[in-house]
Amino acid sequence: MNHRSTEHIPVLLDEVLKQLDPQPGQVFVDGTAGGGGHLLAIAERLGPKGLALGVDRDPLAIERIEALDQELPIALECDSYARIPRILAGHDIQGLDGILLDLGLSSDQLAETDRGFSFNVDGPLDLRFNPQTGEPAWRMIDRMSAEHLANLIYEYGEERQSRRIARAIVKAREKAPIRTSQQLAEIIRKSAPSRSRNEKIDPATRTFQALRIAVNQELQELDAALKVLPDCLLPGGKLAIISFHSLEDRPVKQSFRDDLRLEVITRKPIRPGVEEIARNSRSRSAKLRVACRV
Ligand SMILES: C[S@@+](CC[C@H](N)C(=O)[O-])C[C@H]1O[C@@H](n2cnc3c(N)ncnc32)[C@H](O)[C@@H]1O
Repeated sequence: MNHRSTEHIPVLLDEVLKQLDPQPGQVFVDGTAGGGGHLLAIAERLGPKGLALGVDRDPLAIERIEALDQELPIALECDSYARIPRILAGHDIQGLDGILLDLGLSSDQLAETDRGFSFNVDGPLDLRFNPQTGEPAWRMIDRMSAEHLANLIYEYGEERQSRRIARAIVKAREKAPIRTSQQLAEIIRKSAPSRSRNEKIDPATRTFQALRIAVNQELQELDAALKVLPDCLLPGGKLAIISFHSLEDRPVKQSFRDDLRLEVITRKPIRPGVEEIARNSRSRSAKLRVACRV
């Protein structure tokens, strides 16, 4: 059991509440419950007759929220947000007033050193949101050809030095199996060091992002969700999605624009202000888009 309290600060919280505008008695789903920040704030506004259903793929996130001492109208499910239609059927819910997805990983997952999300501390190179299903990252990089790895790092990490990094990974694994986040981070830092002093991010950032996206099939899950979630909303119900990079934001923007079931509410994405970025640097790349069921 993991009963540590959350370290995650919810991003764009005021803006999400303003846009979704939860009212007493309504039913909402937070498809990425994480540390529960958005979920609890929504549930508070729904009152005893409402319901906030929190979904997360990570069993530790669900356990952490379950352990909270609160009396809010909350139900929890450990599952993917792409399966929300089935989850609703299980709860006998006919339609939703709002859905929130806050994509990516949480600060809690970064802090859990035994999961491999952080490349600043050593841990097993796992990278799965749900460590009970799917293939860990170490196994993925064990079996992939250099070409396949390079394509993956390029596509999901938008990393220009992907070929060089993939070759270095393949060379390193011939000598010793790559099993930890530090091992991989060092291989990347040596093969593709920062090109200039102005580059502030660690050279390993983009490759870790690519592996995490691939291991969790994040873009496939997002695509599947964008197809099914509009049908879960009541007329006037809102779908709000916070993304953190263009690979996520692009499909959200396109799907909101092209989906005849939806009307776009945010012509331009809502971004955090300077104060929020100063308080929580993780928010700096966040973009919130909202659409409403016609
Ligand atoms: C940025 S955090 C959410 C933080 C949350 N809004 C809060 O206020 O604490 C993203 C969460 O989404 C979860 N997640 C990622 N992909 C998912 C998916 N396909 N289905 C459900 N949860 C997912 C991750 O496990 C992580 O806990």
